Amino acid sequence: MKFGGVRFVLLILSLMLVSSAPLVTAEHAHLTIDASKTGAKIDRNLFGQFAENLGHGLYEGIWVGPDSSIPNTRGIRNDVVAALSALKVPNVRWPGGCFADQYHWRKGIGMAALRPATLNSAWGNVVDTNSFGTDEFMDFIHQIGSEAYVSVNIGSGTPQEAAEWLEYMTAAAPTALAKERAANGHPEPYKVGFMGIGNESWSCGGDMTPDYYLSQLKIYSRFAINDNPAQQDKDQMLKIAVGPGFPETEWTEAMMKGWQHHDWSWNFDGLSLHWYTTPGGWPVAMSSTDFNIDDYAKTLKTTLFMDEFLRKQEVVMDKYDPQKKVALVVDEWGAWLKPLPGTNPAFLVQQNSLRDAILASLNLNIFARHADRVRMANIAQMINVLQAMILTDKEKMLVTPTYYVYRMYVPFQDATFIPVAFDAGTYMQGNVSLPRVDALAARDASGKLWLEITNLDPEKPIDIDAEVNGMVVKAAKGETLTAPAVNSINTFSAPDQVVPKPIAASLKDGKLVLTVQPKSVTVISLEP
Ligand code: AHR
Repeated sequence: MKFGGVRFVLLILSLMLVSSAPLVTAEHAHLTIDASKTGAKIDRNLFGQFAENLGHGLYEGIWVGPDSSIPNTRGIRNDVVAALSALKVPNVRWPGGCFADQYHWRKGIGMAALRPATLNSAWGNVVDTNSFGTDEFMDFIHQIGSEAYVSVNIGSGTPQEAAEWLEYMTAAAPTALAKERAANGHPEPYKVGFMGIGNESWSCGGDMTPDYYLSQLKIYSRFAINDNPAQQDKDQMLKIAVGPGFPETEWTEAMMKGWQHHDWSWNFDGLSLHWYTTPGGWPVAMSSTDFNIDDYAKTLKTTLFMDEFLRKQEVVMDKYDPQKKVALVVDEWGAWLKPLPGTNPAFLVQQNSLRDAILASLNLNIFARHADRVRMANIAQMINVLQAMILTDKEKMLVTPTYYVYRMYVPFQDATFIPVAFDAGTYMQGNVSLPRVDALAARDASGKLWLEITNLDPEKPIDIDAEVNGMVVKAAKGETLTAPAVNSINTFSAPDQVVPKPIAASLKDGKLVLTVQPKSVTVISLEP
């Protein structure tokens, strides 16, 4: 056969292939961004992280010790620090979680060899060497350029213990505790941006009633004092009270009613809220790797409940605090899935797929839409636990699809919310109905507009045309995160399966035009 004949056969073959492939037509969505209107600040603290002493979250994830062959700075992994630095993590919550109410800080200071080994009875009864303590945590957040959010122990601790911990960390005056800190290598007081007073005190933190908790909170708020001279005026430490972990509002009602009558002697600036995406409820049964499109849709449906959860609590908070002085702090959220086979179930190890990335963007967008009240959030958890940014295995490290969402959202930190109107459409999966598209817009300090678009539909691309009112857009560029399947993951042997790639976006007649791929998260910058 002549060359031309081969070409003819190839043409016929490819036509046959094309005609046998399912015809996927793109959907269309029209967005209207009103850059002349501004909403609340999207507080950078919404992008906080949670690093509990749990499984390999701290030990191996962050801390390998100064003698490790894994490259480290004073015992803290260099690869992890480099990856987290790119996220501009605004704050890190530590040491728990449930672990916080069993933590005795004195066991984790001083010479490592002299620190007592204790049992981590909150998570698997494993031996804790206490080699990662207060000074190591402060070193870690300093290395990644973040701020400390410490949770004090009100379950098995005492007000005196908490007061002394705060003094150890923050006193500048030459007290015995400040001198002890200096002897441990840090003469300058640490900055403590946030102090959580207990954790889930309605459950693992001591199963307290709201009234009992409130009376404890008043004592800890009064006596656990931040002495750092640099934090006495505008940079004051914010105190965060335990809030709800269930949609019912009794706990919030009791806390906010109490808060309304606070005086000079006690206060709280934030009310914590914990809610995890557990498709199918407890005990968790959804796999982090082995799931189908129905499971994908079910998971996203479950996660979108966050919006209703926040609304319910906000109604109560608005009743007692119409000026929105008290922030809602979602300091534990994320997908809680079945532990990976072969791992210690108490270590909460799960993989992280494209589905988790989409789930993360949907939640971040919800928080941003509630930014006047929701001013802080901490995804659970930072490394090797639950919906993690990073997974490690000895000297190996990978960053997850959720990590990339956080990296792509960096420009939204402290940006101003800009309203974006759109018809989300409907994506049906069996009897699960979901919005097909979600979007968020904001303006950063330099005047640049940022647009995020999530396409929830796992099969159909969406042609977007976005009209920007109140601003002349001269250039647009962006990146998109997608992968072949909703359960695509990054592994140690194939760490780049789910990575963001540049996306083409053009301007036609003043409108932004682009096509977003199925199951994708896209962030575009629009330059004036
Ligand atoms: O993040 C894991 C656990 O979930 C935390 O320790 C606890 O606060 C919550 O129940």
